[in-house]
Amino acid sequence: MNRKLDELLYALMQNMMIAVSGEKLARDLSVSHSTLARWVDKLREAGVEIRGELFTGYRLVRLPDVLLPQLIRPRLRTTMIGRNLYHFYSVGSTNAFAARLLAHRRNVSEGTVVIAESQTAGRGRLGRSWHSEREAGLYFSIVLFPKTPPSLAPLFTLAAAIAMHSAIERSTGLDIDIKWPNDLLVTGKKFCGILSEIQAEVDLVKYMVIGVGVNVNHETLPPDIAGRATSLRIASRRIQSRIEILLEFFEEFENIYMEFERKGPRKIIEQWTSFSSFASGRRIEIHDGVRKITGVTRGLNALGALRIEEKGGQLEEVYSGDVVSWE
Ligand code: BTN
Repeated sequence: MNRKLDELLYALMQNMMIAVSGEKLARDLSVSHSTLARWVDKLREAGVEIRGELFTGYRLVRLPDVLLPQLIRPRLRTTMIGRNLYHFYSVGSTNAFAARLLAHRRNVSEGTVVIAESQTAGRGRLGRSWHSEREAGLYFSIVLFPKTPPSLAPLFTLAAAIAMHSAIERSTGLDIDIKWPNDLLVTGKKFCGILSEIQAEVDLVKYMVIGVGVNVNHETLPPDIAGRATSLRIASRRIQSRIEILLEFFEEFENIYMEFERKGPRKIIEQWTSFSSFASGRRIEIHDGVRKITGVTRGLNALGALRIEEKGGQLEEVYSGDVVSWE
């Protein structure tokens, strides 16, 4: 269904501002008139502005900023990430959809990406939700089959944060920070979060889904998060291209991922350390789910855990948690 909607929208985009006869569209897409009319309604519901009707012809009035696979594919600079793409106008959660694909289909290739224009049940870390306004952000998940034990899985999440950091600095010119482990900040506020979910045996990851949410063109954020969240548009005072950021990210992430497979985690640790102001010398407070740890950051260990020097001088290595305050 989504693929068909994408095809219809793509056909309309080829004839921007010109009315295309419903007759012809139905013929080209091999569907009945009533199905075509239904699909046009679905696109309208998804926010695409289409004038006209079956008998007068349909006309696209504004080029929608939709991440159609037909627009992404020809511009991909990767060999694996994004080669297989699922695109939704609306979905519960791209992470949940990717996990369902993996549970029900045997031939999901590594690097498969599930992308949505909006999510109705976007998931955040630690059981939170992720605000997913239509067309304003990037909401996508990548399927990976890393040949590593589960203890190394957090490194891929750090890799995604690094890749997004580079992609955004390159395409927007903004100055981006990374808050441990993988929140991206601009002007001190969060605009990107990453949620990785894995299915593993004791010594081998079966699959990993890395879900990335980026507030790109949000004009405002809901009042409950507006104090600590922002968007690239708010920070830069201009509309940013979602597709440019996505393509940069895919390329960057694939390079880092492949280098990890060849040479191990050193580069990830090095890059994360150079991109994040939280890496060392920062006084922070972390909740690791069980307790509160306060101290000064002293870099990452080889598995990506954050070293914290506590008041008495002892070093703690924190593998997961939430930085709740910092100076
Ligand atoms: C965080 O809490 O910081 C992580 C947010 C991750 C949100 C993204 S949006 C795409 C993917 N699908 C989801 O349901 N969540 C992730």
